[in-house]
Amino acid sequence: MKKFLAVLTSVALGAALAGCGSTDDSGSGSGGSAGNNGGGSSGGKTVGIAMPTKSLERWNRDGEYLKKQFEDAGYTVELKYSDNDSNQQNNDIEGMIADKVDLLLVAAIDGNTLSQTLDNAKSAGIDVIAYDRLIMNTDAVTYYVSFDNYTVGKLQGEFVRDQLDLDNAAGPFNIEFTAGDPADNNAGYFFNGAYDALKSYIDAGKLVIPSGKTTFEQVATPSWSTDTALENMQNTLASYYSGGTQLDVALCSNDSTALGVAQAITSDYAGSNTPIVTGQDGDIANLRNIVDGIQTMTVYKNVNDEAAVTLEVSKAILEGQTPDASLVDKFNGIDASYDTESYNNGVKNVPSYLLVPYVITKDNLQVLVDTGLYQWDADKKYLESTATTT
Ligand code: GAL
Repeated sequence: MKKFLAVLTSVALGAALAGCGSTDDSGSGSGGSAGNNGGGSSGGKTVGIAMPTKSLERWNRDGEYLKKQFEDAGYTVELKYSDNDSNQQNNDIEGMIADKVDLLLVAAIDGNTLSQTLDNAKSAGIDVIAYDRLIMNTDAVTYYVSFDNYTVGKLQGEFVRDQLDLDNAAGPFNIEFTAGDPADNNAGYFFNGAYDALKSYIDAGKLVIPSGKTTFEQVATPSWSTDTALENMQNTLASYYSGGTQLDVALCSNDSTALGVAQAITSDYAGSNTPIVTGQDGDIANLRNIVDGIQTMTVYKNVNDEAAVTLEVSKAILEGQTPDASLVDKFNGIDASYDTESYNNGVKNVPSYLLVPYVITKDNLQVLVDTGLYQWDADKKYLESTATTT
């Protein structure tokens, strides 16, 4: 019953987020709308935005912020969510190509399955920006806008190091990893960043992984599914922690997986300590868990800023320019770097604009309120989204 309530709460919160009204994807047409073409220098151009799914909270915010910012700049927006189904995403993008959009922004469901479709975009003269997740094996991607993904994982690992005082404490401490979707190119960066930050302590035996699951493949979570993360953690707890072994850290790559892992710990962990649980995204349900002490931190990525950077890159492309390092000066103080070395998609180094993530704990939640994207609820206890419509 307890577990059921926890799941229900997270679903209800997801639905409440941003007034999205629904956590299902309701097909490919969801969110599509026309802008007013009224302002800016858009020249009546249309931007096609392909988002992965409405079932993971952050993409609702991305879709909303992108749509608003592009429409405010005078563009028409065609926004599609593809229900975490890569076939559907290919079809949705083909539809946008047929609609003659002028630019495509794509947050890939599976970074390896879009080559043919994006080649078609290229043949039609449509530039493609890989949004947040790199798209692999195609030269049709012109730019990549994301956060420094390796740093996301590094911040999680360093947080654990500092919390446990690994340089001084005797240990040993027990840790388990939960990583993301193997189809998402970001997921490996997150895992590696975290693992590398902790590797010397693991090698020295100060951090122990009782399950023996030390590789990304062993701890990956298809579709970043909360339910899968929950089941995997329940199995790990049953197999390796039932005899009184203490779990000190559950290092989770993002908030959707942290939600499941925290539920498993709440329902199935017998120990009396509170394990450190990491996350990423600042999802509302996870921010509640942080207030309640069930999750310890999240790495926050301001996706409104990611949308703003994407708009600047898009504008430059649509105006016939070739964005480079100098474009960073137009980001209105948003901390971002231009990187032509780090992200190779198997065909080329994709020029990248990378924003900066940072750590949120229950002690600095006000930082999120200060972004204007979150607000305290009536009791000043939990955070809720300030966004209103999608
Ligand atoms: C990643 C993204 C993360 C997280 C995850 C699951 O690609 O960078 O912020 O949201 O997908 O949606």
